[in-house]
Amino acid sequence: MRRRAGALAALLLPTLSAAHAAGLSAASLRAERLLEQGLNPHPVKLRIPPARPLSAVAQLGRKLFYDTALSASGRMSCASCHSPAHAYGPPGASSVMLGGPRLRTPGVRAVPSLRYLYRQPPFTIGPDLQNGTDVPVPLARQVRLAAGRRRVRKSAGRPLAAAANLVPQGGLFWDGRANTLEQQVNGPLYNPAEMDGGTPAQVAAKLRRGPYAADFRRLFGLNVFDNPRLTVAEAMFAIGRFELEDASFHPFSSKFDAWLEGRVRFTPAELRGYELFNDPRKGNCAACHLDQPGPLGEPPLLTDFQYEALGVPRNPAIAANRNPHYYDLGLCGPYRANLRAQKQYCGMFLTPSLRNVATRHVFFHNGMFHSLQQVLEWYVNRDRHPGRFYPRNAAGRVVKFNDLPPQYRGNVDTVDAPFNRRPGDPPALTRAEIRDVIAFLGTLTDGYRPALR
Ligand code: HEC
Ligand code: HEC
Repeated sequence: MRRRAGALAALLLPTLSAAHAAGLSAASLRAERLLEQGLNPHPVKLRIPPARPLSAVAQLGRKLFYDTALSASGRMSCASCHSPAHAYGPPGASSVMLGGPRLRTPGVRAVPSLRYLYRQPPFTIGPDLQNGTDVPVPLARQVRLAAGRRRVRKSAGRPLAAAANLVPQGGLFWDGRANTLEQQVNGPLYNPAEMDGGTPAQVAAKLRRGPYAADFRRLFGLNVFDNPRLTVAEAMFAIGRFELEDASFHPFSSKFDAWLEGRVRFTPAELRGYELFNDPRKGNCAACHLDQPGPLGEPPLLTDFQYEALGVPRNPAIAANRNPHYYDLGLCGPYRANLRAQKQYCGMFLTPSLRNVATRHVFFHNGMFHSLQQVLEWYVNRDRHPGRFYPRNAAGRVVKFNDLPPQYRGNVDTVDAPFNRRPGDPPALTRAEIRDVIAFLGTLTDGYRPALR
């Protein structure tokens, strides 16, 4: 315990100047003692967005978010898939949701949570490409700049090194194809497998008849219903404001947040899990699911916003997958259009936040797994026992990464731990360690109330 805690204390220690180095051993001893009691040795004051009353526009957005009249079925609203009782994630365990006019049209991807999107950066390939001006560098140029650049290996021991990688990052949806919450609303409103609202004119007509029509005129002017595209644009703006303003989208009320602030103790299992999550030779999870607060006390979001190809197995529960020629390639299509030629990105999907992940029953972009146990078993055994997850071909060979066409399987990450194993290697996490990591993931659930002592 002592040595392990020491390694973690070093990880948690802020950078020390030479002058402070002399005091290091005393400080690290104290840190170890606190850690052994389950306490955060370096508590921070988290900078949490203040809960303010909703603006009038956001209040309208809330009404629209829950309005089933906007869907073709008359029974579906944003909240049907992004359930407020489930951290704005899917309410059940099916891999994809059913939508459309009779709520029978299956979707193609798992429903992500809408929590913690307020800091999602716009889609870029590599950071800081604005060159100090406000003119964004065109995507084609970003691709050229990134071409041939070597990517640093992602390690939980130096998570910020990977931040400089010229790799795709940011954006909304599993493939980053929308940049803002307003832009994004377009998708579900019209998507035939979702709300299937029809044309802008049809949606605008429903808005004009809605109980909130007076709000539209008051907020956006008496002419707001003259131009259907404008009407819908204002509705999308309002829903986006609701998602940004309402504190229920970013409560930061998990046990992990309380622990970061030094207000609660981890149980021994949670502490071990946290350590395994951060250990570059074990879970290495924090290499991509960043868990350290920012320099100004920004609470960690458990994602680095980057894209990765993990090679999740093909999910037979997705109706589209019955067609053997259909592949969801993430960044390079079919739902995202402007990176189709960039084959080096095929198979890459956005790293999701792990906040509230223990409340989900559907995991990964294709909803392939239904429990954290299954997810962790796959992470640890993907390369050691691929036969447990992937089918065999006619010749009896296991077809690893079978949800990608053969020519893109080389895009899958096989360098970052825990994906750097071979058959016969020891597992990155033992069974007991998997239990501990799951215990830690449980501390990321919002609504934690410390037990009374
Ligand atoms: C039928 C289920 C369904 C309905 C209804 C629905 N969504 Fe979604 N939503 C999804 C799915 C599935 C995705 C992921 C799609 C993808 O990545 O291509 C998604 C993605 C999103 C995202 C991006 C989240 C992220 O992490 O990048 C936002 C924001 C969003 N939806 C908002 C809304 C709003 C607002 C509404 C109502 C206008 C709505 N959704 C209605 C299923 C639904
Ligand atoms: C190299 C980066 C990387 C590392 C390391 C990593 N993840 Fe992930 N994680 C991702 C990406 C990317 C996805 C989404 C992949 C997809 O859907 O195709 C993901 C998805 C997940 C999901 C599913 C979340 C959801 O909402 O569907 C869980 C749970 C998860 N990771 C936990 C972990 C744990 C625990 C570890 C450590 C054992 C870990 N990850 C290590 C990149 C990483």
